[in-house]
Amino acid sequence: MPDPNQAALDFLLSRRSRPAKTLKAPGPDREALMPILTAAARTPDHGKLEPWRFIVLERPALDRLAKLAQERGQALGKEERDIDKAVSQYADSPLAVVVVESPVADSPIPAHEQSYSAGAAALGLLNAALAAGWGANWLTGWAVEDPEFAQDGLGLAPHERVVGTIHIGTETAAPPERPRPDLETKVTWVSE
Ligand SMILES: Cc1cc2nc3c(=O)[nH]c(=O)nc-3n(C[C@H](O)[C@H](O)[C@H](O)COP(=O)(O)O)c2cc1C
Repeated sequence: MPDPNQAALDFLLSRRSRPAKTLKAPGPDREALMPILTAAARTPDHGKLEPWRFIVLERPALDRLAKLAQERGQALGKEERDIDKAVSQYADSPLAVVVVESPVADSPIPAHEQSYSAGAAALGLLNAALAAGWGANWLTGWAVEDPEFAQDGLGLAPHERVVGTIHIGTETAAPPERPRPDLETKVTWVSE
């Protein structure tokens, strides 16, 4: 018979993100963040390619990126509310970890499998932050899709892209539970 890790299972059955706009300082310091990053790095990875990396954004970097989001939003002709949203994603974040998909070229492992591994690393990071007692939220947005923001602001190489930015901080409000998928429509049981 299996020997369940009930605490882990209970966590997975009840986990939920905390909206980024409800997160306040303090976020985890470097010492507190290391086990979270270590857990996230422990992710399935076909071919052991490690096709992802993490960029930790601390306060000065978040402020710099808020300014860059403002500049890039104006340069791209974005609507004011979209610019404000992107700016506040950085200006109001206590700490953020950018999960970067960093695919390995000329590998027998297809690119989409490398993407799945990078996505798994992002979920691992989100879940580890939540399990460590922080509020956390996975966001993207137009700014990270902008090559100038991604390359000049975050230091991505042209072949890399942002999987998600995981904002981590002290939660101030528990959000209401959101409806979860109906497994009746999601699961196919094949018995013959
Ligand atoms: C790849 C990806 C990108 C996302 N980007 C955004 C975003 O930019 N803005 C947003 O409000 N939510 C975004 N979300 C959704 C939030 O993370 C949302 O909080 C999450 O779906 C809540 O799920 P949970 O409660 O199961 O953790 C994104 C989710 C994923 C998987």
